[in-house]
Formats: sequence, C-alpha cells, structure tokens
Amino acid sequence: MGWKVLSLSALVLAFAGLSHTSTVSAAPLPRVLVLATGGTIAGSAPSPSDVTGYRAGVIGVDALLSAVPEIESIADVRGEQLCNIDSKDMTDEIWRQLAARVNEIVAGDDVDGVVITHGTDTMEETAFFLSLTVKTNKPVVLTGAMLPATARNADGPRNLLDAVRVAARPESADKGILVVMNGKIFAAKEVTKTHTTKIDAFTSPDFSPLGYVDENGVAFERTPNLPRLHFPAETPLPRVDILYGHEGDDGTLAEAALRAGAKGIVYAGMGNGNIPAKAEKILVKASEKGIVVIRASRSNSGPVLPADPSYTAAGFIDGSVLNPQKARILLRIALGQTEDQEEVRRIFREYLNP
Ligand code: SIN
Repeated sequence: MGWKVLSLSALVLAFAGLSHTSTVSAAPLPRVLVLATGGTIAGSAPSPSDVTGYRAGVIGVDALLSAVPEIESIADVRGEQLCNIDSKDMTDEIWRQLAARVNEIVAGDDVDGVVITHGTDTMEETAFFLSLTVKTNKPVVLTGAMLPATARNADGPRNLLDAVRVAARPESADKGILVVMNGKIFAAKEVTKTHTTKIDAFTSPDFSPLGYVDENGVAFERTPNLPRLHFPAETPLPRVDILYGHEGDDGTLAEAALRAGAKGIVYAGMGNGNIPAKAEKILVKASEKGIVVIRASRSNSGPVLPADPSYTAAGFIDGSVLNPQKARILLRIALGQTEDQEEVRRIFREYLNP
C-alpha cells in the first residue's frame, strides 16, 4: 500500500471547493509505516474456530492492512515486511536488524510514526530492546494479537487499527517505545504478558496503563519516566542466562550456565529475589570471578530490593522493577559495553533511576 496524500473525504472536499470559487485543502494525514515481523496477528489456522492449533507468522503485511480498510481514514499507511516468524524464535540478529531499520525510518522526514506487528510471546522483550536501541521522539508502537487472523473473532485487526491510531497522534511522541493491546497503551519498561490465552493478556503489574485507545481516539493518563540510556542497534549481546528459583535448587544449573559461557546470570528468585543457599554459594564464586549476578523475582509484581546482606557483600545487583527477561536484556547490553562489574552496576542504577 503506497502513501496517499489525501483521504477520500478530503478529496471530496477539495473537489467541492474547486467547483466553487475557492479551493479547500485538507491537512495531509499522518504517515505511519507498519513494519511486520510475524506472530499470531499474522497467524493462520485451518478453520475459523481454531484458536490454538495454528501457525504464527504466515500472513504478509499487505493482507494484514487489507483486513482494515478503515485505516485509510486514520493515517497514510505503508507496509513493510521485516520477517515473518513465531516470536518464540526471535533472535539477536533480527533484533539488531529491527532496531537499525526503525532508527533509519524515524530519521527520515517521510514518516510520522511506526507500528511494529509482532508475536505476543516475546513482544515485551523486543519492546524493551528497542527502548534501549532506538533513538527518536516519534511514536513507535508494537502490537499483535492473541487470536490468529483466520479466527472468527480475531483481535488483530482492532489492535492494528488502535496501534495506527496511537502512532498517528502527536501526543504519542516523546513516550518511548509503546505497546498497544486490547485498547490499552503500555510503556516498554512496564508491560508484560500475564495471560497465556486471553485477549486481555497484557498488563503493567506495578503500574496502570499509560493510556487507552479506541475508535473515539487516544487518551494518555500519564507520561512514562523514560530512561535516557541509548545503545547502538548493533550492540554486542553476550550470553546471559536466567535461572528460575525453586525448592531444592542445588546450583547445578548455575554451574551449567557458567560452563556454557554465561557472562552474567539473572536469578529469578523467590519473593524479593531470594536465592537458595546452595545456588547462592555457586553464584558468589561466579561473582568473584567477574560474572555479573542480577537478583530478579519469580513473583509477577513488586520490585526486588536489597535483602540479605550476603547478596550485597557478594556484589549481586538488585533487579528492582525489571522482570527477569528484561533484566537479562539490560544486562546483555551492559555487558556488551563493559565487563567491569561496577560499570554494569552504574548502567543499572542509571537505567532504574532516570
Ligand atoms: C508469537 O508470539 O509469535 C505467537 C503467539 C502470539 O503472537 O500470540
């Protein structure tokens, strides 16, 4: 779909004006580029009643846009296909390509906002990666769907329309990377997928959504506290593993992660980031050798704050409001810049207290 300078109604108005003595010129629509990466929004199932047994990342961007002809009255929309994958298979390479492409698009003067269609499974991770590697004040909005495009009650078309509504609005500028799902607008730092199958699968556990969107418009209720850290899109991403705390963790998996070459470990601990003693012993030794350990939590909400003094003495970093998967991304990016534990700590501090 190419750029269109005037909407149909604007053309009618302009024509009506020409038939009289003066011309009426309508303001051009905002220009939004839809960058498609796959996901359930581009998923296809054998029948309209199939909502689980389907393939994600099958349908192309032109078909996604054709399903929502109303989009033409909201924005002048152009589609571009970056990849077409199930987002569980997201890779570092695609992240770097995506960040580089978004940086390129927003640097041009022919686009006012960007929408990225994406699988919901890793949407929060991609949004978070982009929030650290894309530098723009233009709106950049990720959206997806919980039901495949072929489902009778598919939610993708509405989410795509809503995302374009948000990307097209000037008040969406300077809000960082946004996620729009089920009528809610979230900040990349805060959003997470909290339900496996429901259409209302996304929340910001410790915060309210930034705002809401529907056919009546876009309403922001607050502005996110944006981190000022930015890193190059082609940043190195050293290996960091997430270990999930559980009863009886004897540190075997921590040892395996270290053997596999992890430069950092995010421990998704119990409650306020607590680590079973045997696993802690392995992590203390790792920290002494320069491996960075972040304390996160397997609980779905609440910050990880300083706890047992032995964690502080060992140099473990408190993950604060970052869930394990986001703490892992920040740690990988930080370790891509420096191997110095104190410098990594400074990056976390600066990120968490903008
Ligand atoms: C995916 O993440 O690509 C599949 C699941 C989804 O989009 O909901």
